[in-house]
Amino acid sequence: MRLTLQTPLDMHLHLRDGDMLKNVAKYSARDFAGALIMPNLTPPVTTIEAVNEYKKRILEACGDENFTPYVSLFFKESYTPRFLEQAKPFISSIKLYPNGVTTNSEGGVTDIDTKRLSPIFEAMSELGIPLCVHGETDGFVMDREREFGAVYRKLSDTFPKLTIIMEHITTKESVELLKTHENLYATITLHHLLITLDDVVGGLLNPHLFCKPIAKTYEDRAALLTVALNAHEKVMFGSDSAPHPVSKKECCGCAAGVFSAPIALSALAGLFEKQGKLTNLQAFVSDNARKIYNITPPKKEVVLEKTEWTVPAAFDSVVPMFAGQKLAWSVVSQ
Ligand code: DOR
Ligand code: ZN
Repeated sequence: MRLTLQTPLDMHLHLRDGDMLKNVAKYSARDFAGALIMPNLTPPVTTIEAVNEYKKRILEACGDENFTPYVSLFFKESYTPRFLEQAKPFISSIKLYPNGVTTNSEGGVTDIDTKRLSPIFEAMSELGIPLCVHGETDGFVMDREREFGAVYRKLSDTFPKLTIIMEHITTKESVELLKTHENLYATITLHHLLITLDDVVGGLLNPHLFCKPIAKTYEDRAALLTVALNAHEKVMFGSDSAPHPVSKKECCGCAAGVFSAPIALSALAGLFEKQGKLTNLQAFVSDNARKIYNITPPKKEVVLEKTEWTVPAAFDSVVPMFAGQKLAWSVVSQ
């Protein structure tokens, strides 16, 4: 059995920089036509020059593959409407991190005050620049996304013309928010569709499934599955594949992030097939994102085949999700 996907997109991807970028970019470039690249480098990507230089390094790391990096700019309170106008042709979104809530988010926003930040959000609305948000407070780990719901509602109501992407949603409340607020959209990861908190800490601790936001309950996962499997038009695939060296994962003080890029399409095909929803995968991994972001990436066909393979223990010494496990579908060509 074969499945051909047209121009699959990963709308939330961490590619890092330097050697890590060189090691991991090829996996996304092989399986996807393009991806929205996160800007939480050290230092974060905050200038037009940094965006363009980073894009060049990404393309270099992708070699000959047909792959379009859509780069997101790291939200700074100091941005002016004039700067945003100049940045617009080079960026695909602006990523807002609340200060200190996740990897390299120092320098994020301390207080998301819709009054103080209104010139930025108004300009983004006018220019049609989507706002991507890491929606977590610094509260109790299982409640952080739910608590952030109030901020999403305020942003959505105050700036109705702003396209707001709730990144990597993990709760049933976030799924509900999408339905009630016209300008809210969401990315959903592979891991949040497949795991719950049980898989992370319910048995022996699995550092390779530790991420932010942390995987939640079975009920939350069921809500995510319903909208993803039915390719609800306001959700799209964003892997949040976030590679870290083994030394930063298998240690005390484990870094947050699941490295899923090399297995993402195979695992998604397996999941959608098992649930009898294979025909909806095209919309979830491409069509919805193209509409939400209003982008037309160069065409690329990616063919999958129902042939079992075993996920290696590591890809370029980075441990992937499902290392050592069997997956039913393989990517066979572009
Ligand atoms: O688990 C995560 N890892 N969540 C994030 O928000 C950031 C990411 C990373 O950059 O490692
Ligand atoms: Zn991320």
